[in-house]
Amino acid sequence: MRIERFMSFKDKTAVITGGTSGIGYEMVRILEPYNKVLVVARQSPRLETLQAEFPSIDIYPADLSKPQEYEALADRIIKDHSHIDVLINNAAVQNTPTYLSDEFSYDSMIPEIHLNFTSVCALSYLLLPALLNEKREAVIVNINSGLALAPKTGSAIYCATKGGMNVFSQSLGYQLEHTNIRVMQAFLPLVETPMTEGRGSGKISAQNAAFDIILGIEKGVSVENIGKAKILRFLLAVAPKLARKIMKGS
Ligand SMILES: NC(=O)c1ccc[n+]([C@@H]2O[C@H](COP(=O)([O-])OP(=O)(O)OC[C@H]3O[C@@H](n4cnc5c(N)ncnc54)[C@H](OP(=O)(O)O)[C@@H]3O)[C@@H](O)[C@H]2O)c1
Repeated sequence: MRIERFMSFKDKTAVITGGTSGIGYEMVRILEPYNKVLVVARQSPRLETLQAEFPSIDIYPADLSKPQEYEALADRIIKDHSHIDVLINNAAVQNTPTYLSDEFSYDSMIPEIHLNFTSVCALSYLLLPALLNEKREAVIVNINSGLALAPKTGSAIYCATKGGMNVFSQSLGYQLEHTNIRVMQAFLPLVETPMTEGRGSGKISAQNAAFDIILGIEKGVSVENIGKAKILRFLLAVAPKLARKIMKGS
């Protein structure tokens, strides 16, 4: 089983935001047998179901689209776990209607920005006391998308939050380069999850995406390009106009 490949990733304390679904759920499934996994998601029956499926995990209900919840969440986590080895900022939403569409929801714009971007900046700061440690290595993993490198027409807010995540991750990486904390980004192609249900083709499975992210964490890299995200990087370097045109219509 591929899980055996991650035997060196064990005895860690890992916080995963958005562990109830898709790629986050698969990362919980892979890491839970050998690690202490802390899952952040909204209070809901599926968070309770996850706890029942994996009794060893700790769940932290929070709505990450609401900045007023961040400090209390971080305090709760640090009170229970004085050190954290891995913070995986994975939770996100993608609203696809364009500005000109009748389906565009103004009310969902700011919560999308907070969930996809503000919470990443905030948790990376608020959990620092538990991540910083002279004796242990730690990693902040930001789950990103090829859309951070070249946007598509729909999902302008989503693309912008992922672009912001890219720049934020690089700068934070500079700030932390003389500490025990590495900042890593995983750039994903289209993945088969509830987020992409009913659209797109040629998707990779959420399980494979999760495996490749964890492989990247183990490799110690700062950027892991997964699947077609590798091709996008290449195309952006050799034929940027073509790459942007393909992504525009994707
Ligand atoms: N799927 C793709 O093709 C693709 C491609 C590139 C990058 N990505 C990135 O991969 C990551 C995971 O995406 P996915 O496709 O696995 O998504 P998903 O299946 O839709 O899962 C999203 C997760 O985010 C959580 N979440 C949503 N709103 C939240 C809120 N307000 N507060 C706290 N948690 C919230 C959800 O938990 P609850 O609803 O239970 O709260 C759920 O666990 C995201 O960062 C996404 O941008 C995905």
